[in-house]
Amino acid sequence: MGEKCIQLLHFSVVLLVFYGNTAAGVSSQAKIRCMEREKQALLQFKETVVDDDGVLSSWGSEEDKRDCCKWRGVRCNNRTGRVTKIDLSISDLRGKISPSLLELQHLKYLNLGGNDFGGGNQIPVFIASFSRLQYLDCGGNSFHGPIPHQLGNLSSLSVSFNLSNSIVDVDLSYNQLKGLIPDSFGNMISLVNLDLSFNHELDGGNIEWLSHLSLLRDLDLRDVNLSQATNWAETINSLPLLKNLHLEFCQLPNVVPPAHPFNSSLSLEVLDLSDNDLSSSIYSWLFNLSNSLVDVDLSSNQLKGLIPDSFGNMISLVNLDLSWNQLEGGIPKKNPIEYSIAKLQYFRIFGESSTCGLPLPNKCPGEEIGVKPRSNDTRSQEEEEEDREAAAPEGMRTCAEVEVDQVEYPIPAMPVFCSCFLKDITTLSIYV
Ligand SMILES: *[C@@H]1O[C@H](CO)[C@@H](O)[C@H](O)[C@H]1NC(C)=O
Ligand SMILES: *[C@@H]1O[C@H](CO)[C@@H](O)[C@H](O)[C@H]1NC(C)=O
Ligand SMILES: *[C@@H]1O[C@H](CO)[C@@H](O)[C@H](O)[C@H]1NC(C)=O
Ligand SMILES: *[C@@H]1O[C@H](CO)[C@@H](O)[C@H](O)[C@H]1NC(C)=O
Ligand SMILES: *[C@@H]1O[C@H](CO)[C@@H](O)[C@H](O)[C@H]1NC(C)=O
Ligand SMILES: *[C@@H]1O[C@H](CO)[C@@H](O)[C@H](O)[C@H]1NC(C)=O
Ligand SMILES: *[C@@H]1O[C@H](CO)[C@@H](O)[C@H](O)[C@H]1NC(C)=O
Repeated sequence: MGEKCIQLLHFSVVLLVFYGNTAAGVSSQAKIRCMEREKQALLQFKETVVDDDGVLSSWGSEEDKRDCCKWRGVRCNNRTGRVTKIDLSISDLRGKISPSLLELQHLKYLNLGGNDFGGGNQIPVFIASFSRLQYLDCGGNSFHGPIPHQLGNLSSLSVSFNLSNSIVDVDLSYNQLKGLIPDSFGNMISLVNLDLSFNHELDGGNIEWLSHLSLLRDLDLRDVNLSQATNWAETINSLPLLKNLHLEFCQLPNVVPPAHPFNSSLSLEVLDLSDNDLSSSIYSWLFNLSNSLVDVDLSSNQLKGLIPDSFGNMISLVNLDLSWNQLEGGIPKKNPIEYSIAKLQYFRIFGESSTCGLPLPNKCPGEEIGVKPRSNDTRSQEEEEEDREAAAPEGMRTCAEVEVDQVEYPIPAMPVFCSCFLKDITTLSIYV
């Protein structure tokens, strides 16, 4: 949320300067002023806000401030003069959100992220009554307690139920919300981005509500308790447009492979399931979504045994992290990994002491050329290079960079890493 907010803030500042200039110039557009009723509503909002940094100093009833469309963080429709956008993210504001804001019936965008409007209280129920809201960010605001179920009404209240005027983006991350995510979230069928991450005591229940959000593209439920979501994998598959999925620290139950093959999601690109104690049964789901995945993080789970060759079928994979599991054996060298993963750039296997084979320091059983200790090599650098090239699988003889954490290597066994494995790889991090 943070980075997004900062960008938005910059954007707002640039816009302010731009509008300021045109107003001072010729333009007849400059005549458009906010409605008195909406201005009063904003002033009422200001009254319940503690503003130590004077962020709202441009908000006032003085003559030179009379156009609220020029107030910091406020945007109006330039034809109607109605307030459509409030962006007060990361402004060090405290206090209550005044319900007077409901007067702004054309408000589409409300970003109060990264302030302290919660003060340990619940999200106010009236937030659910903005009938045209498309973007809501109340992340990082110390809201506590359960999420009001009425929030699911944000879509259904929309004028004539026109999807293109309905809620698209909800961010309630980094609060201290508790209890079940209300099933009514399934009513927000126009949602594209949903971020409820880092609400440690929030419970996703069986996440059935999620399967109704068929326009969802980004879903972040990091650190939300999903231990009851036994069908989470099938639910995710039912979201046809989902691209970015973050389910780290969710206590995810293991995948039970269904009787019929998984109907795979074709859209998923970023999949982060790290820190969940998942077993290798995840493969039955994972390898059914092979074609689209770009970024896969399965670190800190309970994967055991050999690294499956099927990773090699993930033709779009750029980042793969398998660290901190209990994997063993070699990195698959023959087809498919060797030739198929043409795009792989980052491959991390920290903490996997039972893995072996180039470029890892442990020789696999039966492997002829292992990695030679640097301190005990009498041959010329050129000969060494040739050996390493010979040891590398065909077609994988370039790599831009190798990142090795050497702390745990006994010095004589310090491997000399070749510049010649996994085609096009730019970073390989190994910490055994
Ligand atoms: C009015 O707003 C529309 C859409 O936001 C924009 O395309 C247009 O350039 C604006 N006109 C003026 C005069 O600022
Ligand atoms: C939410 O919607 C339900 C059903 O559409 C309705 O009964 C309820 O009164 C609404 N709540 C609010 C706060 O608008
Ligand atoms: C929905 O709203 C959009 C934009 O406001 C408009 O272009 C479209 O015609 C509306 N559709 C319906 C069915 O009202
Ligand atoms: C997660 O939820 C389950 C059941 O809802 C509960 O038993 C468990 O204690 C929760 N975990 C944490 C860490 O709160
Ligand atoms: C897809 O899932 C089914 C089980 O649901 C499994 O038997 C099959 O091997 C999977 N496909 C791939 C390519 O792994
Ligand atoms: C996949 O789709 C087919 C046909 O729609 C259905 O019969 C099957 O049960 C589905 N599999 C799963 C695991 O949902
Ligand atoms: C170099 O390796 C040989 C055999 O592998 C070993 O006998 C010798 O002690 C090593 N020398 C050093 C300096 O480690």
